[in-house]
Amino acid sequence: NEGALWGGRFSGGPADALAALSKSTHFDWRLARYDIAGSRAHARVLATAGLLSDDELARMIDALDRLEADVVSGAYSPAESDEDVHGSLERGLIERAGTELGGRLRAGRSRNDQIATLGRMFLRDHARIIARGVLETVAALVEQAERHPNAPMPGRTHLQHAQPVLLSHHLLAHAWPLLRDVERLMDWDRRAAVSPYGSGALAGSSLGLDPNAVASDLGFDSAVWNSIDGTAARDVFAEFAWVCAMIGVDLSRVSEEVIFWATKEVGFVTLDDAYSTGSSIMPQKKNPDVAELARGKAGRLIGDLTGLLATLKALPLAYNRDLQEDKEPVFDAADTLELLLPAVSGMIATLLFNTERMAELAPQGFALATDIAEWLVREGVPFREAHEISGGAVRVAEARGVELWDLTDEEMRGVDSRLTPEVRSVLSTEGSLSTRNAQGGTAPEAVASQLQALKACREPL
Ligand code: ARG
Repeated sequence: NEGALWGGRFSGGPADALAALSKSTHFDWRLARYDIAGSRAHARVLATAGLLSDDELARMIDALDRLEADVVSGAYSPAESDEDVHGSLERGLIERAGTELGGRLRAGRSRNDQIATLGRMFLRDHARIIARGVLETVAALVEQAERHPNAPMPGRTHLQHAQPVLLSHHLLAHAWPLLRDVERLMDWDRRAAVSPYGSGALAGSSLGLDPNAVASDLGFDSAVWNSIDGTAARDVFAEFAWVCAMIGVDLSRVSEEVIFWATKEVGFVTLDDAYSTGSSIMPQKKNPDVAELARGKAGRLIGDLTGLLATLKALPLAYNRDLQEDKEPVFDAADTLELLLPAVSGMIATLLFNTERMAELAPQGFALATDIAEWLVREGVPFREAHEISGGAVRVAEARGVELWDLTDEEMRGVDSRLTPEVRSVLSTEGSLSTRNAQGGTAPEAVASQLQALKACREPL
């Protein structure tokens, strides 16, 4: 078992099947630079504690620098016999610093506190990349909203025509959850900014090393207060996976609408050629594959989260090897979003809206019935009655196969004497929209204020 991190108490080497099962370099190698950063920080606290001389520290740092350069250039990579990133890098260090010096670095640390720390470092960097991608998507929605400040569309509940809304209002309804996702990533980072380094295998170190010095060296705010928690907890990983899944779900909801809007039957959007695909057999096809992949990848992101949670469920303290399974789901979540976000934001930014068709359909399907009822309320009619009266008007219009505004004055009066011709002031899309002018409503000036508020929220992110 030459070069392994353990073996002193064993008389034979591991079975091939165990070695193959145990191996993680094919996925944890991407933590190599974080591992080396951790090693530099660890070497410094060993020196501070008097366990490395100034000269030894200098030679150790030099060897780590050379190792890192070789890792980056690809000149150094894991060998078939290396179990994990930590073991491989110790081998590389010893090749450069010699067995005597290289063998000193492992004092006072364990792969258990290392891996917990490196994972957080990796995720903190990727949370920033993901947050930028989400903000790009928000920007694409905001730009489309600004391009169409007053364009109406049918607002739906249960996918049925409900009330007219502004397209800008609808687009911004997708922007707010994404903005909250960015806030979630930032809030998550406060919990991720605590370093487990120094927790050792589970009980801390007897060597007088300062965990807070390592923590600040590695860009953390502080060190953990409990070494068992430091090595065994993965809630911070799971929370990262949850936020990624939520982002995936939020993207899938915009995407589903794009898919629907792009159908022949709806015809609200045309996808840019750069963000649509063709068919290998049907020459006419133009498919919304970006949106469909976003919908599909949301399932994958949910799988990453639930897989990790299943791994953690009922796991006793402290470190268990099950925890090696923590990395692939969160790596996959980060990779998936980093691939997906630029495609989705590009797709949204280049959507061409058929505002004429949206405006034409906006008031149809009796979508102004609520406006009649609310007009009656403003005329002093109790809402219960107003609802009945407006429903009566819908019944007459439906029977005649016309829309509400097509009813004659006589027909209106026939439904109820209080339905005077003045009700026509709200029987248009513009009339309906303009009345919903309180904060959060879909009136043009309310949406203009909303846009300013959203930008103010986005500013500090
Ligand atoms: N590669 C392991 C992981 O990813 C860290 C090694 C800890 N191994 C051990 N036997 N304590 O969690």
